[in-house]
Amino acid sequence: MKFGYFDDARKEYVITSPKTPLPWINYLGCESFFRLISNTGGGYAFYKDAKLLRLTRYRYNNVPSDDGGHYYYIKDGDTVWNPGWQPTQTALDSYECHHGLGYSIFKSSKNGVAAEVTTFVPIGKNCEVTSVTLTNNTAASKDLQLFSYVEFCLWNAMDDMTNFQRNFSTGEVEVKGSAIYHKTEYRERRNHYALFAVNAPVAGFDTDRDSFLGAYNGYRNPEVVFSGASKNSMASGWAPIGSHNLKVSLAPGESKNFIFILAYIENPRDDKWESRGVINKKPAEALMQEFATKAQFDASLAELSAYWNNLLSTFTVKTGDEKLDRMVNIWHQYQCMVTFNMSRSASYYESGIGRGMGFRDSCQDLFGFVHLIPDRARQRIIDIASTQFEDGSAYHQYQPLTKKGNSDIGSGFNDDPLWLIAGTAAYIKESHDFSILDEIVPFDNDESKAQTLMEHLRRSFNYTRTHLGPHKLPLIGRADWNDCLNLNCFSEEPGESFQTFGPSEGPVAESVFIAGMFVKYGREYAVLCRKKGLNDEADAAEAAVNDMIQAIYKDGWDGEWFLRAYDAFGEKVGSHECEDGQIFIEPQGFCVLAGVGLENGYAQKAMDSVEAKLETKYGVMILQPAYKDYHLNLGEVSSYPPGYKENAGIFCHNNPWVSIAETCLGHGNRAFSLYKKICPAYVEEISEIHRTEPYVYSQMVAGRDAKNHGEAKNSWLTGTAAWTFVNASQHIIGVRPDYDGLVIDPCIPDTITDLTITRKFSGAVYNIHVDNSAKSQYGVKKMIVNGKEVSGCTVPFEEGVTEYNVEITM
Ligand code: BGC
Repeated sequence: MKFGYFDDARKEYVITSPKTPLPWINYLGCESFFRLISNTGGGYAFYKDAKLLRLTRYRYNNVPSDDGGHYYYIKDGDTVWNPGWQPTQTALDSYECHHGLGYSIFKSSKNGVAAEVTTFVPIGKNCEVTSVTLTNNTAASKDLQLFSYVEFCLWNAMDDMTNFQRNFSTGEVEVKGSAIYHKTEYRERRNHYALFAVNAPVAGFDTDRDSFLGAYNGYRNPEVVFSGASKNSMASGWAPIGSHNLKVSLAPGESKNFIFILAYIENPRDDKWESRGVINKKPAEALMQEFATKAQFDASLAELSAYWNNLLSTFTVKTGDEKLDRMVNIWHQYQCMVTFNMSRSASYYESGIGRGMGFRDSCQDLFGFVHLIPDRARQRIIDIASTQFEDGSAYHQYQPLTKKGNSDIGSGFNDDPLWLIAGTAAYIKESHDFSILDEIVPFDNDESKAQTLMEHLRRSFNYTRTHLGPHKLPLIGRADWNDCLNLNCFSEEPGESFQTFGPSEGPVAESVFIAGMFVKYGREYAVLCRKKGLNDEADAAEAAVNDMIQAIYKDGWDGEWFLRAYDAFGEKVGSHECEDGQIFIEPQGFCVLAGVGLENGYAQKAMDSVEAKLETKYGVMILQPAYKDYHLNLGEVSSYPPGYKENAGIFCHNNPWVSIAETCLGHGNRAFSLYKKICPAYVEEISEIHRTEPYVYSQMVAGRDAKNHGEAKNSWLTGTAAWTFVNASQHIIGVRPDYDGLVIDPCIPDTITDLTITRKFSGAVYNIHVDNSAKSQYGVKKMIVNGKEVSGCTVPFEEGVTEYNVEITM
């Protein structure tokens, strides 16, 4: 069952029922100001950091009820309705929500009145703008009222929802004309406030929530809206809100438009006040002037659309498979921008007050984003590296505003360091900017400990190289990529963190997954050493990688698949000898994509085992059999009921690893079939089962052991976004940026017989055509570049050439 449809021409998903199985959301904003917006108008806004600079409130534990949003109420006689259906839930005569690239549009109608509400965050501005157009489609005139509503968060979202003994007394606002200013804490240490304004005179306003809603009322039945009379309330403590009341008289056929703006405004510290206690409104007033008319609004929306069209023109494909094209050309890349911006901080499943930016997460998010805006990726790499410790280990998470590591969680996740090499290599392959390696970057945010980025990478590499266990495999620490495989923690009491309880390091527990990573990114490191002329170091790195491969063959192989780990007692994890958790997906995918086992048949065996033991119709499960009991020596992985999350869920992030691994074996059909299983557009028809948005990936789909097998959870913020885009674009379609040119090496299903690709890369445009009339799955037979045959599958750079026309025969 579907709840909408893709409009590829407009690059939108159009939702046709407000009652989607779960809120289906969109992200507005590209750089600093962000808004989460659901298909019923729910969500909240923040500036840079969802924890520290939250503009509006949202209720937690709130999916699917989705309580809290930026709402527009229309009062038409006794009927009150919302274009987004929520919060009144008045039945609508028609409803559509268009989630587009950086904007959302609601088109609804009730009793002959049509509303069109468009919201977006303008490029380069710290605000959200909303256009509301009301049209009277009846033969009689209408006297309507339009009420806006936002509920301000008192900036620090954690404090806002916990520290009421203070913050019920701190709320302050100012009102001037149609502009409402939320200025809580501005009197003391803050130099910023929020503005909520409309470009028309108001009949009234409210800034105090309880006056607006009425005691004991909810958003569904606000007293002011139902009575039709604003109270002009001035918040004094309690809960400040912004609400405008607009009287809208419409002749038959007439339309009226209003532009609302919700902004974050910062003043210089020495220019905070206009007069004592009165905030300096100059920047707010200037901003209002920029969005005073519908024409200005439209021009800014057109700029946003041009911005996205330009970004997406970096990589486009035509494969003959409509769903593949739409995901690769639009939604994968869009989701990559969102994960790049948010890491794992703010979604409908991440509170915005928790994890902040993940070290490993953000390094991987770069892979799918770096081709869009390499300069921003560059800055991100520097930010991430600045949180690394001198010994090469790293803070697992950091706060986006302060860019400081979170000490509550600390370090000890032993895969983290290697991801920095991976992210940096991806950036240099895209940009050829080797100068980043010479950037001076602090350790632990301490400038006195700054070293070159190359030195950071060296310490990353050496951290793994020097932290080996009894089998010469890498020590796992608190956990590796699988945050829930906690082999050194032994937590027995509820409430203790599975990860940070106990020692961070143990001398015995080892990870075969990190071993696979070391092979892959150790080789990347060796290449970087060579590029820097450090040949001895490169030789040593390659030798260490070869030793690691031997260690995997000797003690990391279980007979039919790669072992997962050794626990703190040296017992095997992920072996046929175990009762549960006999096979894990991570080392199968990662070792094979790193090239381990290609020469001795292990790779093929591992893939066969994955297919036989882990694959379901909804994707590949993370492990089997699911753990039935809690195991102290394994930690959180065994805490989940069977089939969920890391305990045998389909953890989407690692499905592309298996698909990429299949491309390493030349299996185009298998790689594509795995890609399709978890790809949202291919499961759109079963949205009642899948339940999350059909245009983006979710972190997890319930596995075979779970009651609701096939049900997805935790949409949007997942490493699946980046990895799947890498898989689809670089491995299946096979267009990979590299140091010496663009590699074109498709591994496609035999059903794709004709492939057209455009790739902008290193200042040139590549127009690529692949003829696969032979219905091959892998293997470039012939490549002609600008009329000349070139051997191999890399299009080498040629001085001064800005257009490469590439004709490939498979
Ligand atoms: C985390 C990742 C981790 C994954 C698997 C996600 O929630 O953000 O860092 O790799 O879970 O445990």
